[in-house]
Amino acid sequence: MANENTALVTGGAGFIGSHLVDRLLETGMRVVVIDDLSSGQLKNINPKCIFMHGDITSGTLDSIFEKEKPSLVFHLAAQSSVAISSQKPMLDASTNVLGTLKVVENCHEHGVKKLIYSSTGGAIYGEPPELPVDESTPAHPISNYGVSKFQGEQFIQLYHKLHNLNYCILRYSNVYGPRQDGNGEAGVIPIFATLMQEGKQPTIYGTGEQKRDFVSVHDVVKANMLAISHGKQTVYNIGSSVMYSVNQIYDLIKEHTDFAKEALLGAPRPGDVFEISLDYSKAKRELEWEPEVAFENGLQETLQYIQAHS
Ligand SMILES: NC(=O)c1ccc[n+]([C@@H]2O[C@H](COP(=O)([O-])OP(=O)(O)OC[C@H]3O[C@@H](n4cnc5c(N)ncnc54)[C@H](O)[C@@H]3O)[C@@H](O)[C@H]2O)c1
Repeated sequence: MANENTALVTGGAGFIGSHLVDRLLETGMRVVVIDDLSSGQLKNINPKCIFMHGDITSGTLDSIFEKEKPSLVFHLAAQSSVAISSQKPMLDASTNVLGTLKVVENCHEHGVKKLIYSSTGGAIYGEPPELPVDESTPAHPISNYGVSKFQGEQFIQLYHKLHNLNYCILRYSNVYGPRQDGNGEAGVIPIFATLMQEGKQPTIYGTGEQKRDFVSVHDVVKANMLAISHGKQTVYNIGSSVMYSVNQIYDLIKEHTDFAKEALLGAPRPGDVFEISLDYSKAKRELEWEPEVAFENGLQETLQYIQAHS
């Protein structure tokens, strides 16, 4: 029997996972976290949760399910960078494909009530013919990361068909906000802002005219919370539909931080899509979700956080 009030958050020391853990604890849930701290950080972990340092591909995950019997599982642990997925495809597949399969197997074996999976709308659709893209558009990933995250979705859907696993898949656009790692490989906003604050010139790969749909981490947490009671056996885009180019982001942060220099220019990176924006009307209709944080406010909050923590 699953423990009604217990949620497991994989990747709960990471950027999005740690905000979700905070919110779940606020609602009175008992929260267990597994994280190997490969990109997550100890300082992000809420002291009120039960933290297990471990790899989702290892036996630590099985022992957690055995002991804690969570009724809800939020699966966020992932190799989360497109660039690293090109450099280290085996590592990417090990975590995102095999790790997800292990989470899914455990959910089935231990009678989990619902699995909520953090997937990617930014990388799964590849270069779709029309924007914003909705969930009926076939997946055509152009990066190892896009393929591995899509494989995770496919295992979840297979386990529903074979074993009636209850799930909801959330495909995020580019998530931004406090705690995103400015020294990591993903997250253009904290990477640019951290370098500018240190007086170093960030690099723009390609022309800088590539465009992204940005969504605040607070809105993403809200989507996860709504998915507890809404949306069965389905996939939702979680984005804003509003696009900003990398050059626009550079200029906005430059203005905020009073940075004077232009960017260094690098070759386009394999696996990066040129333009993506997500149609979230299905999430609005069925999940009763829509983005609430205006980009200007979210950017301001993020830059203030970076300033205070560096
Ligand atoms: N940030 C975004 O823009 C974005 C967009 C779309 C989807 N997502 C998805 O959301 C989820 C969270 O992303 P994030 O931005 O918070 O990234 P993150 O890198 O901050 O979080 C991932 C967490 O997983 C942990 N982890 C990695 N491999 C692990 C393993 N083998 N075992 C245990 N823990 C492991 C890391 O230490 C980290 O704490 C990921 O699944 C990612 O694919 C993120």
